[in-house]
Amino acid sequence: MGRYFVYVILGGGVAAGYAALEFTKKGVSNGELCIISDELVAPYERPALSKGFLLPQAPARLPVFHTCVGANEERLTPNWYTEHGIELILGTRVISADTRRKRLLTATGETISYKFLIIATGARVLKLEEIGINGSNAENVCYLRDLADATKLVNIMRMCNGGNAIVIGGGYIGMECAASLVMNKINVTMVFPGSYCMGRLLTPKIARYYEDFYELKGVNIIKGTNLSSLVFNSEGKVTGANLKDGRYLHVDMVVVGIGAHPNTSLFEGQLTFEKGGIKVNSQMQSSNTSVYAVGDIASFPIKLFGDTRRLEHVDAARRTAKQAVCAIMEPKITSDFDYLPFFYSRVFSLSWQFYGDNVGEVVHFGDFSGTKFGAYWVNNRRLVGCFLEGGGNEDYVAIAKVIRLKPVVLDFGELEREGLNFVVAV
Ligand code: FDA
Repeated sequence: MGRYFVYVILGGGVAAGYAALEFTKKGVSNGELCIISDELVAPYERPALSKGFLLPQAPARLPVFHTCVGANEERLTPNWYTEHGIELILGTRVISADTRRKRLLTATGETISYKFLIIATGARVLKLEEIGINGSNAENVCYLRDLADATKLVNIMRMCNGGNAIVIGGGYIGMECAASLVMNKINVTMVFPGSYCMGRLLTPKIARYYEDFYELKGVNIIKGTNLSSLVFNSEGKVTGANLKDGRYLHVDMVVVGIGAHPNTSLFEGQLTFEKGGIKVNSQMQSSNTSVYAVGDIASFPIKLFGDTRRLEHVDAARRTAKQAVCAIMEPKITSDFDYLPFFYSRVFSLSWQFYGDNVGEVVHFGDFSGTKFGAYWVNNRRLVGCFLEGGGNEDYVAIAKVIRLKPVVLDFGELEREGLNFVVAV
């Protein structure tokens, strides 16, 4: 059994949805494009799963957050794909790929051939077993990557009202889940090994602000240690957690947010890899000229900083997807990708954005006892990164513009005094 499509998108997440929209803008014909996804639903805005989806009141549900609403574009419902002659092959896992023969094999035994392949397989969560702890299959242990995970999390949260949750991990998934659990009236203890939360991005001073805020909301934060083992009752449900520092916590549910791993195994040995991802050029083209890689699995050149990075962030997924489609459909006029790294998160009443690079000397600014503050990063005398909590749209536009210019900074004191005015004035 076999089918042929001119364009195949492997993976049905954020990047797939944005790529599909771009294909239609560029004039793809009926029946030329398919999306193969092991999820059961059309592409959606994955960040909604840890935000609107977990709200206690009026939670977001599909079809509300199908792509591409997250970038104020059209909402691509299943009907939209039908109307545009795009085949959605859902609930179908690709189990092997042959990039030389340009074909994919699905778990249902179907061979799908292509002229151009866009790999958009995203990432999978790291399981407890990968850090030597048993329990992933327990009914009250939750992860958060896809709709099925989020649905389980909501069901368990509803059953645990007033109970105790442990959140393992202090990254953005842990932080966003902890906030949602509190809003759902669950007592939360966060446990993570670092000395402060979101250590890969935040400075200790900024992290302290968020930790204090969380503690005021009732979150108990235990830092500098990790989960050692889970304790189960006779039905296999988790009832307790032993920490490496010897503490024991009684728990009714567990949320694990210990990181993600890119889904690239189908292509190992066939394509060139770098920094854990599929290496692509500034057209998102891999070492095989018929194969493009986008989103969480792509390691792409960051012109602004002169290196290659793999970013697990939604903005990068949207923009790399668009770039790949432009490069395939209009190769002669598609300029090189020039991406400014951008991350964001929203929890409780807080909201931050980060642009650029968090390397070099840090200069904090703003009112850390209020609601608007941030930090600049200056590397080799150039302003390369900016984090801002509580900004407005105009602030973020100004920051993005200025970080792209990488202005020279001679006086750190002045930068600190000027604060946000520095970027507005450039
Ligand atoms: P994505 O994971 O979206 O899609 C991959 C798709 O491929 C999935 O449908 C998967 O099932 C499918 N697939 C994989 N292997 C397959 C196979 N062999 N066969 C068939 N299908 C296969 N970022 C940010 O900047 N700000 C934020 O606030 C958040 N918030 C956030 C919350 C949560 C809960 C998550 C999980 C992630 C975020 N992110 C985020 C990260 C962001 O969502 C992520 O970077 C993008 O979803 C990446 O898009 P991709 O399309 O690359 O992968």
